Amino acid sequence: MVTLPDLIKTYGCMMTESTNNMVWRDGVAVITGAASGIGEALARHAACKLGMKVVLADIAEQPLQGLAAELSEQGCEVLALRTDVADAASMIQLAEKTRSHFGDVTLLINNAGIETLGFSWEIPTAQWEKILRVNIHGVVNGVNAFAGAMLDSGKRCVIANMSSIAGVSIAPIQASYVMSKHAVLSFTECLHLEMAMKSDKVQVSAVLPGPVKTKIFASVAQQHDPVVAEHHQAMIDLLEANGMTAQAAAETIFEQLAKGQFWVSTHPEMTAMMAKQRAANLASLATPFMLMDSAFNID
Ligand SMILES: NC(=O)c1ccc[n+]([C@@H]2O[C@H](COP(=O)([O-])OP(=O)(O)OC[C@H]3O[C@@H](n4cnc5c(N)ncnc54)[C@H](O)[C@@H]3O)[C@@H](O)[C@H]2O)c1
Repeated sequence: MVTLPDLIKTYGCMMTESTNNMVWRDGVAVITGAASGIGEALARHAACKLGMKVVLADIAEQPLQGLAAELSEQGCEVLALRTDVADAASMIQLAEKTRSHFGDVTLLINNAGIETLGFSWEIPTAQWEKILRVNIHGVVNGVNAFAGAMLDSGKRCVIANMSSIAGVSIAPIQASYVMSKHAVLSFTECLHLEMAMKSDKVQVSAVLPGPVKTKIFASVAQQHDPVVAEHHQAMIDLLEANGMTAQAAAETIFEQLAKGQFWVSTHPEMTAMMAKQRAANLASLATPFMLMDSAFNID
């Protein structure tokens, strides 16, 4: 009988070890959350450096159209489609419009994500629902809308889901974000196993950025609780002072995706350290404790 460990041995490492480097040129990329930050940098890199046809998907219409106009003027092939990743129908429409405009998708980056701060019991239900719908269902909706056709195309494809270094760590004041990124990571690990059972052409990767200088914390509403407000400011300052540029993050993400890596990280050492600490904590069933210093001081 084939046991789960056998399956994992057989399929779990397949994509990282056996695939050839991805050739991006002339491929079709769909990037959600493409109007800002990491998504914007990934879109710029894919369209203008790698020569891909890129669908820019974001809920924010104005910056989305602005970016599309700028990239088109530079001679890059892009299509901007206003999309709400939290809405399954909107993602299906994105897939249909992408197919009719550019044909088969070879790269899907489920990047869109938001932050929420606060003590868990004080975050309003609507805000809880919003972050879980965008950060978790957004990724699932992306996979539901695109993965079947990517498999059927028989082409070498990549599905990259945006987790975070928060996916391998824990932190107070950010419980909703942390749990969403843990969910994206475990979903992506399972998806990797499932895809490997079906095809060696569709690579599934989990992207775990460390601190990247974007508007993600600046977009969070002002906080009234002084402890939460202090945490909010500390995170804005952390990204400003120590965050990698989004452009550098995009370059390293594409490099690692091209190599067929499952684990993609902008800060591999920091990610490994956090994962090691979490694994040790779980293995010893230790009571959760904070390691905030290690997260806040990055050179
Ligand atoms: N910046 C970091 O330090 C960092 C670290 C780890 C992980 N991440 C992850 O990277 C991803 C991108 O974050 P960022 O830092 O570039 O943030 P950002 O705020 O600069 O960009 C996020 C983009 O997602 C879009 N978006 C939000 N809700 C959406 C929805 N419902 N449908 C479609 N688009 C939507 C926004 O309009 C925005 O353009 C997120 O998943 C985030 O969790 C960021």
